[in-house]
Amino acid sequence: MEFMKELGLEGVLSGTYAGEWISAEGRDKLVSFSPASGEAIGTILQTNEEDYERVLKSSTEAWKKWRMTPAPIRGLVIRDLADELRKFKEPLGKLVSLEMGKIYQEGLGEVQEMIDICDFAVGLSRQLYGKTMPSERPEHRIQEQWHPLGTIGIITAFNFPVAVYAWNAALAAVCGDAMIWKPSSKAPLCAVAVQNIVNRVAKRHDCQGVFNLIIGKGSTVGERLLQDKRVPLISFTGSVPMGRHVGEAVGARLGRTILELGGNNAVVVMEDADIDNAVNSVFFGAVGTSGQRCTSTRRVLIHKDVKDEFISKLVSKYQHVRIGDPLDPHTVMGPLVDEQAIIAFERAIDEVKKAGGKILYAGERIEGKGSFVKPCIAEVENHYKIVQEETFAPLLYIIEVNSIDDAIEKHNDVPQGLSSSIFTRNFHYAEKFVSPEGSDCGMANVNLGTSGAEIGGAFGGEKETGGGRESGSDAWKLYMRRLTSAINYGSEFVLAQGIKFGEDD
Ligand code: UN1
Repeated sequence: MEFMKELGLEGVLSGTYAGEWISAEGRDKLVSFSPASGEAIGTILQTNEEDYERVLKSSTEAWKKWRMTPAPIRGLVIRDLADELRKFKEPLGKLVSLEMGKIYQEGLGEVQEMIDICDFAVGLSRQLYGKTMPSERPEHRIQEQWHPLGTIGIITAFNFPVAVYAWNAALAAVCGDAMIWKPSSKAPLCAVAVQNIVNRVAKRHDCQGVFNLIIGKGSTVGERLLQDKRVPLISFTGSVPMGRHVGEAVGARLGRTILELGGNNAVVVMEDADIDNAVNSVFFGAVGTSGQRCTSTRRVLIHKDVKDEFISKLVSKYQHVRIGDPLDPHTVMGPLVDEQAIIAFERAIDEVKKAGGKILYAGERIEGKGSFVKPCIAEVENHYKIVQEETFAPLLYIIEVNSIDDAIEKHNDVPQGLSSSIFTRNFHYAEKFVSPEGSDCGMANVNLGTSGAEIGGAFGGEKETGGGRESGSDAWKLYMRRLTSAINYGSEFVLAQGIKFGEDD
């Protein structure tokens, strides 16, 4: 395929970048498959322990120089990266679609999200503001500065194989950190392609060692990264069980984490909602990316007065959803990522039935090549065990509610807390939902869906979602260390809190 060539993806590829691609003879092979065709699309040689040490060495060296490069100059690298990504938007969008299975439009959206965060980071490179505060002592002042942390680890999931890297990499780079990226083994070609784009830019600025890559099993190089005391921050995107392990392993060495784990995102639809808007948003939220976003809509808390209308309009959309090749411009829903994802989807539907749920639109495997399913809608009770879990697939639960208080109570009654939304024209409902007694998530929208956030706000969630924040707002602070300094510009010995120490009165 022509676009693969354009992205530098020919032959057997090295999965290790340590300021240069490491020629990786004799390493274990990883084959990448297209979820739409089931065919092998590339082979990567995985990082081993020895390679890992080289990566760490290269990034540590590079960081020493990078941390002393003025932040606005670091920003220029990311400005060039944004331009380079603009040039490669189409081939990279296609590769995301081919390797991970989301439709091309969403693949393009993902690359756009990379460009957006780079643009944001360029501005940020002149705004890494610290505060100054008045001192209680005469001729003293206090200031805070933000300094680079070191080499950070970025572990990303298959579902956003390029954008989530960029959220972290663009901020980390302007903040003066070097980085080691460990992508999902389900999307290694995307990582190599992005690394090739980054390398071209980094070479022009002579900072290649800042951006490094390892591709390998979580149980080997992934674990090495988590345990490594030389890596002060691990930014991890993935499941709750894996995130718990990451939190424990990094916490045990008192390292810092940014955890972006599972969601169980709900849309509340009140009796006065614009139903068509709600239906369109839920359709995108539940079926978009084949339900494989951490922000995907998993539950609809529907007011009893509008339940029938809502369900009939939504089911009709499901009946017409075009499922197929994600690179075909007419397709609305591509495949699931692999066979395991289909098994989890089928198991969840079985659980729903066993618990007494009512299937409103039957989800099932589509026989033939590729990992395709039909999406599912089921009417359930919020307390079912399976409803309390995140199933990473197009399985949507409908739950009836009878008031705003009932809706908020059920909304919050799950272990996860990523994204949420309410559809209403009632000012009081809307404000209540985003008030301290409303949604307990990290994100709560009004009259739009749970997925598809812009990069400008802080992204992340509470409870089992892990508490991390990424991308916009002041998420950058997590990539830096804060240095507080009190400075005495006079010549007197003065203690704070009025303490007199060994002085005659
Ligand atoms: C994810 O699924 O891990 O808000 C990230 C969204 C996208 C990012 C999702 N901008 O749906």
